Amino acid sequence: MFHRFCFCLGLWRLVGGLDYYYYQVLEGKSVTLSSDLTELKNDEQIHWWIGNKDTVIAEINVTANRFSVFDDVLDGRFRDRLKLDNKTGSLTITNTRSEDAGVYELQTNQISRAVILKVSDEMRVWAEQSVTLSSGVSELKNDDQIQWRFGNEDILIAEINKQTNRFSVFDDVLGGRFRDRLKLDKKTGSLTITDTTVEHAGVYKLQTNNEINTVKQTVRAFKEVSVTMGNSVTLSSGVTEMMDDDQIQWKFGEDWWFSSEYTLIAEVNITQIKFSVFDKVLFGRFSDRLKLDIKTGSLTITNTTVEYKGDYKLQTNYIDFTFRLIVCDEILVMEGDSVTLNSDLTKLNKYDQIEWRFGDEDTLIAEIYKQNNRFSVFDDVLDGRFRDRLKLDNKTGSLTITDTRTEHAGVYELRFDYVRKRSFILTVGSVHCCGPTEAVIRLVLSALVGMATVIIVLYDIRSRRAEQDQAHIHASQT
Ligand SMILES: *[C@@H]1O[C@H](CO)[C@@H](O)[C@H](O)[C@H]1NC(C)=O
Ligand SMILES: *[C@@H]1O[C@H](CO)[C@@H](O)[C@H](O)[C@H]1NC(C)=O
Ligand SMILES: *[C@@H]1O[C@H](CO)[C@@H](O)[C@H](O)[C@H]1NC(C)=O
Ligand SMILES: *[C@@H]1O[C@H](CO)[C@@H](O)[C@H](O)[C@H]1NC(C)=O
Ligand SMILES: *[C@@H]1O[C@H](CO)[C@@H](O)[C@H](O)[C@H]1NC(C)=O
Repeated sequence: MFHRFCFCLGLWRLVGGLDYYYYQVLEGKSVTLSSDLTELKNDEQIHWWIGNKDTVIAEINVTANRFSVFDDVLDGRFRDRLKLDNKTGSLTITNTRSEDAGVYELQTNQISRAVILKVSDEMRVWAEQSVTLSSGVSELKNDDQIQWRFGNEDILIAEINKQTNRFSVFDDVLGGRFRDRLKLDKKTGSLTITDTTVEHAGVYKLQTNNEINTVKQTVRAFKEVSVTMGNSVTLSSGVTEMMDDDQIQWKFGEDWWFSSEYTLIAEVNITQIKFSVFDKVLFGRFSDRLKLDIKTGSLTITNTTVEYKGDYKLQTNYIDFTFRLIVCDEILVMEGDSVTLNSDLTKLNKYDQIEWRFGDEDTLIAEIYKQNNRFSVFDDVLDGRFRDRLKLDNKTGSLTITDTRTEHAGVYELRFDYVRKRSFILTVGSVHCCGPTEAVIRLVLSALVGMATVIIVLYDIRSRRAEQDQAHIHASQT
């Protein structure tokens, strides 16, 4: 029973390609990386690697009846902590440490897949995604009783009584914030919350068979916010007016995926009537760039550059929420010219997978599978608007668009390494309407506004400006 009280498991899919499994585990607990096999075939061969196929840590060869873990690799970091299930090929890491975080790879006869493991003292969930809170048992016993509770007031949200075979969710509590969002697994007692929002961040407790020992599972919600380089972005506190005892803290963390280190950058303490920004931290990175709204506690970052991408954690009396800020490069190109969207990679690694996507629908326009040396452009998509115009640099993965037209304007996304990405906003100007001044458009994003809306706003402003400029030109010609 390695799974006792810990983690969540979810198959995550970035919009479009690149499937991978993502596990979170609380430091010190065990996690089982699943092979998804229910039994091994007679000729099954399984390999578990850490890193991009760097080091084998477990291997199964059924023909040779060999089941091996290599826990002496990497200076014995995994010593006595690896367990291989000889029925399914799943791999368990016990007593996890922060350095276990990273990318693992699984290869079986049928599949090859990346598994990302995050080890920390908290759980992270993307807004609008699902999270599964594990009961810690693989199968409920006949007399098991389980209760799931939420929040500071320990509100009962789900209950299982195996003896009477009763499975209940109470999704009308707390003003219905869980309505149609709770799913109980009848076999394991695990609880899934679907379509999470900021309201579902908080502490979940699991009580089993009246054990006094309750387990806290903290779910913090995430939201992606994007801003064009050079512009300002406001991260909303969600508070419309602060109350007497309100406290708000903003913290910044750079490596959003694996690290949990955050630095305090702004704070409001109404009790003390104190508003502070700490813009000298992190070598003055935020100097003169932070503004705290005295009424709402919302945080504005002005004149953004790529240095400001990362996680901004908001903690108030009621909310624990993280904004992940993406700073887009904005590129202006004249119609007919070529433009290169720079991957900023100096070389491609052996197992790199890279995707270029375009527009609101995230249409795949180019792809690299370095392992097979496959470089593909899909220039027949979107009615062929990219036909014979795409060039992929086989050294760096950068994408060049030749002979640009206005229909190539929009958002391009480079996705690599399963989780990282870069975004570009391409503006295609014509000699008439777009001078360099066109780039200076103030765009303040409300934190709860999604990317699609933002882009529409941007284009709306743009096209209106263009029309006005055109009109102006016409007027002055007459
Ligand atoms: C698995 O074992 C069989 C039988 O000993 C052997 O022929 C085969 O090469 C082994 N496979 C690997 C990948 O070692
Ligand atoms: C699998 O593991 C179990 C328990 O450790 C052991 O009893 C069994 O012999 C193993 N089977 C094989 C094929 O190694
Ligand atoms: C806010 O001020 C009160 C009163 O001085 C103090 O007790 C509390 O710890 C402060 N909160 C923070 C987050 O500094
Ligand atoms: C914005 O940042 C850039 C680069 O850091 C700097 O050169 C520029 O002067 C800044 N603009 C404003 C308005 O602060
Ligand atoms: C990259 O492209 C160049 C020019 O088309 C070609 O000569 C070279 O073989 C390619 N390299 C790889 C690794 O595909």
